[in-house]
Amino acid sequence: MKAITVTPGKADAAQIEDIDEPAESDGPVLVETLAVGICGTDAEINAGDYGWAPPGHARLVLGHESIGRVKEAPSGSGLAAGDYVVGIVRRPDPEPCYSCAVGEWDFCRNGKYTEHGIKELDGFMRERYRAQPDALVKVDPSLGELGVLLEPTSVVAKAWDETWKMGNRATWRPRTAVVTGAGPIGLLAALIGKQKGLEVHVIDQVSDGLKPELVGALGATYHTGSIEEACESPDVVIECTGVASLVFDAIEHVGSGGVVCLTGVSSAHRIEVDAGMVNREMVLQNEAVVGSVNANRRHYELAADALAQADHDWLAKLVNRRVAMGNFSEALSRKPEDVKVVIEINK
Ligand code: BGC
Repeated sequence: MKAITVTPGKADAAQIEDIDEPAESDGPVLVETLAVGICGTDAEINAGDYGWAPPGHARLVLGHESIGRVKEAPSGSGLAAGDYVVGIVRRPDPEPCYSCAVGEWDFCRNGKYTEHGIKELDGFMRERYRAQPDALVKVDPSLGELGVLLEPTSVVAKAWDETWKMGNRATWRPRTAVVTGAGPIGLLAALIGKQKGLEVHVIDQVSDGLKPELVGALGATYHTGSIEEACESPDVVIECTGVASLVFDAIEHVGSGGVVCLTGVSSAHRIEVDAGMVNREMVLQNEAVVGSVNANRRHYELAADALAQADHDWLAKLVNRRVAMGNFSEALSRKPEDVKVVIEINK
């Protein structure tokens, strides 16, 4: 079968190749992949800056944002042929650490977790894969292939869950939220913010096109300036860019008792900050700053609910470029108007 593979550590090594059918030992559920989304992590892996091949192999099948359809599932597994499913990206470490032992692999304590398409486990850019039933999440059939948005939504569902928990360490009546970045993660974070009944402000650099349109369609407000200009003392900032200066702007401008949730993975970038003032601000304002990565099954389920409740036409607009598997390199090179680009498999 065909797969898109990369050589971790080597730049621009993505290629389409024939690989073996999935091993029975991977699990009793056989899934036919329909589409795989591309995100910044895939770009980093293809640039040779991130990613690990399975032990003993040089190449890794890319892809961690998937939607597929069950072809075979054992009875009693809760899954049946035809179900739309998403593969959970991270698998618990083998020990397991105390977090992985209770299904909180997103908090893996020893770093020995694996991730499909990222760390030591082949990803979903292949025509078929096998999995254990508990490594799959069923998606509302009304979403169909839009279920490809479940994995990025799980990441922001976790970010909001963390934020809510932080906020509720005291009586909390949040009203406003700022989301930095109007890429897929920012837009999905804004979607959940609106579903929570907040006044949501989204900041990005572009002044026209699909991003402002999608923000407006959510009933949120789009801005191109600073956090301070977008909203005075927001209760929440969900930082989705990883841009170092924005991280410190968020800490400086979040309101008293507010929560800043960091979801962007930055590359090394030195900036000058007044560390004393940052500390003073955080202490005197009871601020919480929380970093959030990955998602466990509970977050996938929260995300599945968020997507099921969302306007499906809005979700469909988010996926604004679809590329056939054979033209995968077009999907891996970013265009300025891209929001979510997906590679279609088995089409
Ligand atoms: C994925 C996460 C993963 C993280 C770090 C992100 O792109 O969505 O599932 O944990 O990369 O590898």
